[in-house]
Amino acid sequence: MIDAPAPPGARVVQPARRLRGEFTVPGDKSITQRGLLLGAQASGRTRLRNPGLGADTRASAALVQALGAEVSIDTDELRVTGLGLHGLREPADVLDCGNSGTTMRLAGGLLAGRPLHAVLTGDDSLRTRPMKRIVRPLRALGARIHGRAYGTYAPLAIAPSRLRGAELDIRVASAQVKSAVILAALRANGPTVLRQPAPSRDHTERILTAQGAALHTTAREIRCEPADDLQAFDLDVPGDISSAAFWIAAAVLPPPPHGTIRNLGHHPRPTRLHHAHPNMGADIETHVETTDPEPAGTVIARSSDLRAITAGGHLIPRLIDEASLLALLATRAHGESRIADAQELRVKESDRLHTTERALSALGLELEAEPDGFIIAGGARAGGGTVDAAGDHRIAMLAAVAAVSGTGPVTIHGAEAVDVSYPTFWDDLARLAE
Ligand code: S3P
Repeated sequence: MIDAPAPPGARVVQPARRLRGEFTVPGDKSITQRGLLLGAQASGRTRLRNPGLGADTRASAALVQALGAEVSIDTDELRVTGLGLHGLREPADVLDCGNSGTTMRLAGGLLAGRPLHAVLTGDDSLRTRPMKRIVRPLRALGARIHGRAYGTYAPLAIAPSRLRGAELDIRVASAQVKSAVILAALRANGPTVLRQPAPSRDHTERILTAQGAALHTTAREIRCEPADDLQAFDLDVPGDISSAAFWIAAAVLPPPPHGTIRNLGHHPRPTRLHHAHPNMGADIETHVETTDPEPAGTVIARSSDLRAITAGGHLIPRLIDEASLLALLATRAHGESRIADAQELRVKESDRLHTTERALSALGLELEAEPDGFIIAGGARAGGGTVDAAGDHRIAMLAAVAAVSGTGPVTIHGAEAVDVSYPTFWDDLARLAE
């Protein structure tokens, strides 16, 4: 339940007596963005049904429009008319990726090695996020790409060049980095072999394969052959599992609630919260209803008695966007939990190890940010308090879930940050919480 009045730009969220409902979350952000970027370099018209239409996906749409692709957006369908693999046009102005790391990093790969000059910039947060991770491998393919601090930060400037195939090791298990390299490799003069430290979400590989690209994937290695052309495609975008994770977490945390979330992405690799932690004892049922081109289905989450967990290693890249929620769940579990190997959280839309610790501590929960994760004391329930979303959509939603499952009202400053991925979040919250 949401009470007015709140200070300007803030929301006050009250504890819910009960949380019950059945609903569909907006289309997956990562898949919608890839639909736009990959559709723009396809031949013909691509249609995305149930797209996610937050600020991040709109940034991807504006970017491909600036490159000459035609985009039309309705609530339940998004259409992109692509220009073919070699048809993208030189943009007339700087390309603004807003808050979206996916837009910037994938666009780096999309634009590298073309006969054009382009500059990618973003908001204050995005301009502090690491870009060397794409600059280095793209240069190894022959791209001419520069950024502030020797390629560390945006704005990134891309100059005309030609690309060659190469064997590359990428240092972070990141779907954004992997995708940037694959997008460039499609236009190289020979095959590219990319080795990654651990698997990450594979939406790019799935869509490109459906478009006719030759990609051979094993757990550690992706071989990408150059392509002549890529076909347009029709895609039913599954619900965004990272958005649904907030409701799953809310449903799992007592007081006794019950929730059903339909059509959410249910991906074997970005497993995410719901079955990453059977060890935690969360009562979450998943039903996969379709697998092509992306798995999707229904999740039923129920209030659960949670056990402490230790999470780390290869699990972390799979649930990186849900790690703060996992920390919140752990505050309610019996015993002390530890989340490790999650140093990537330091370079998300905020330093999420720090902002999660600050948000949950402000509500009386005990967790400590470590250099690569959290140590979390269990057995507590969030109290009331004030949280600053720090410009990070996932921190705003985390605070809201802590509030509905907590014991006192929570004032969330910068609540509008949810627009980045889930513009209807507050409406859905009001519908779900009693
Ligand atoms: C995303 C990948 C993840 C994730 C981000 C979306 C994507 O980042 O945190 O929200 O769409 O590829 P990394 O790939 O850098 O881990």
